[in-house]
Amino acid sequence: MRRKVAAGNWKMNGLKSALAELDALKNVDQSANCDTIICPPITLLTEAVRRTQGSNIKIGAQNCHANISGAHTGDISAEMIADCGASYVIVGHSERRADHGETNSDVATKAEAAWRANLTAIICVGETEAERDAGETLDVIEEQLDGSTPSEANAENTIIAYEPVWAIGTGRTPTLDEVGEVHDFMREKLIAKLGPDSGNVIRLLYGGSVNPKNATDIFAISNVDGGLVGGASLKAADFAEIIKAAN
Ligand code: PGA
Repeated sequence: MRRKVAAGNWKMNGLKSALAELDALKNVDQSANCDTIICPPITLLTEAVRRTQGSNIKIGAQNCHANISGAHTGDISAEMIADCGASYVIVGHSERRADHGETNSDVATKAEAAWRANLTAIICVGETEAERDAGETLDVIEEQLDGSTPSEANAENTIIAYEPVWAIGTGRTPTLDEVGEVHDFMREKLIAKLGPDSGNVIRLLYGGSVNPKNATDIFAISNVDGGLVGGASLKAADFAEIIKAAN
C-alpha cells in the first residue's frame, strides 16, 4: 500500500510570522499512514526545519538549480536546500514552467540534482485549459511526464503531482472521473517506463484547488495518493483538515 501524502506549497507567501502555522500543525494527530510535507519560501527553510524537528512534518523547497554551486546569481542548489535540513523539493511547477520558461528537460535535470543531494523530487505536470478544451490532456501529460521524469525515478526519490494549470488557485477542479482518468493514465505510463516495482509504488498527488471540503473525495480516487495544496496550506486549520482527509 502506498502511504498518502499531504504536501503544502506556500509559494511566495509567508514572512517569519507564518511559522506559527507550523507550530499549530504539529499538534495535529498524524497517523502513520500519511506523510506531511510543507514547502515554505526559501527564506523560511532553515527555521521551518528547526521548528518541525521531532514532529512528522517534513520540509521541502519549491525549486532548485541543476548545478551544485557556481555563478548563478539568485539561484539555490539542491545541496543548499539539503544543507538547510529539508528533504524535498518541488520541480517543474507550472508557475515555474510559465514564469521562468522551464522545459521538461530542465525539470528532469533538476530532479536529478535533487537526487544528487538526497532530496525527494516532487515533479509537477499539468495541462492548460486550452489543452483540455482541445482534448489534448492525455497527450500533454504523457509528454510532460516522460520528459520530466528521469528513468531512475523510484518511490523513494520521486513523487509526481498532477496539477491542471486551470485548477490552480481558481477554485475549480476537474471532476473526480477526470482526475481518476489522468492518474490511471500516469500510473500506466510510469509502469511502462520504470517497470512495475517503481511504477506501481511512486506516489501520485493531485493539486489544484484542493480544500478541506473536496479533499476526502479526491484522495479516495484509486490512483490518487494525496495532494499538493497551495492556498489551503497557508492556514494550519485548513491544512489540518486536509491531513485528516489523507489519513
Ligand atoms: P492551489 O495551488 O491549491 O492554491 O490551487 C496548488 C499548487 O499550485 O500547488
